[in-house]
Amino acid sequence: MTRFVDVGNMIRWVASQGTENVLAGMIGYLENDFARWETFDKIPRIASHTPFGVIELMPTSDHETYGFKYVNGHPSNPARGFQTVTAFGMLADVHNGYPTFLSEMTVLTALRTAATSAMVARKLARPDARRMALIGAGSQAEFQALAFHAALGITELSVWDTDPAAMEKFAGNVEPLGLHVTIAASAAAAVQDADIITTCTADKTKATILTAELVKPGVHLNAIGGDCPGKTELAAEILTLGDVFVEYEPQTRIEGEIQQMPADFPVTEFWQVLTGARPGRTSPSQVTIFDSVGFAIADFSGLRYVRDAVAGTEFAVDIDLVANPEDPKNLFGLVAAFSPVH
Ligand SMILES: NC(=O)c1ccc[n+]([C@@H]2O[C@H](COP(=O)([O-])OP(=O)(O)OC[C@H]3O[C@@H](n4cnc5c(N)ncnc54)[C@H](O)[C@@H]3O)[C@@H](O)[C@H]2O)c1
Repeated sequence: MTRFVDVGNMIRWVASQGTENVLAGMIGYLENDFARWETFDKIPRIASHTPFGVIELMPTSDHETYGFKYVNGHPSNPARGFQTVTAFGMLADVHNGYPTFLSEMTVLTALRTAATSAMVARKLARPDARRMALIGAGSQAEFQALAFHAALGITELSVWDTDPAAMEKFAGNVEPLGLHVTIAASAAAAVQDADIITTCTADKTKATILTAELVKPGVHLNAIGGDCPGKTELAAEILTLGDVFVEYEPQTRIEGEIQQMPADFPVTEFWQVLTGARPGRTSPSQVTIFDSVGFAIADFSGLRYVRDAVAGTEFAVDIDLVANPEDPKNLFGLVAAFSPVH
């Protein structure tokens, strides 16, 4: 049997634990997996592009467990009543190839993306960082805010979105949780006093939602919205203001903000900062830039975390996903047992 977490159980499980507790626990799993980065199979995700958006498969394996996520990215979806990003994913036992765990990943992707951002910021942002600006107040925004509150103690948020209703929704969701939100009149106003800037907009184009003069010394930039060929958020000049950190360099060269830069533009894979192999922030005035696109190992960590956390609880159910004949060579016998006898 395969354990399965559907949307209802995912939502009930997160609510029962508290979103910030879930994010904090997930950061632990992410750090564990990023620290053993070299043990994983890694390839850039497999993308199918159309004029409407992209559908991607994101596989990885640590040679004990295999995992993959199916995810889409359709920036025009909300205008048609659909979400920009939806996903599901699974884990399998490498020893026999059987799927062991299947889960919704629309909510889980938002959690793992926010947990990854916070894990990285905890290493790269100034330790005295207190204010975060968020540009983009869609599905990811609240999860980002709560992860930065849980991991870095950020309580002061300013937000800018071209859609005023999205900003109101964001403030309405996070203010009751103890965060203080200022709704800004522009991106420039939002980032004015920010120690950390998170960009999480969706547009299937090379957008410029932030320009270089708006990025002050000492800022940590958490850029998660530019994650597809031809889809970026930052003015290219910003990438020359400081040091750029990525998840998996071969994938980020294709999809990240650095697609705007020459192929030899220097970047650091974040796992090397985590293990101490490469420096992260080296001075209070340094600008640090996390050019995030989302990588399969983070989904693997998220799935592993949920699988372990819901084991033996009511939040997962068994599903009959794999045909299991008594004689492993007699698959047809399963069908024959139900066929009318002539
Ligand atoms: N790096 C990762 O791991 C990762 C993971 C998940 C999603 N993403 C990306 O993050 C982005 C946001 O995802 P989402 O699910 O929140 O999307 P969403 O469509 O729910 O929200 C995006 C928001 O951006 C706003 N926006 C668009 N253009 C803007 C602009 N120029 N200035 C200000 N606001 C603008 C929209 O009004 C909308 O409210 C998407 O591009 C998605 O692909 C990245």
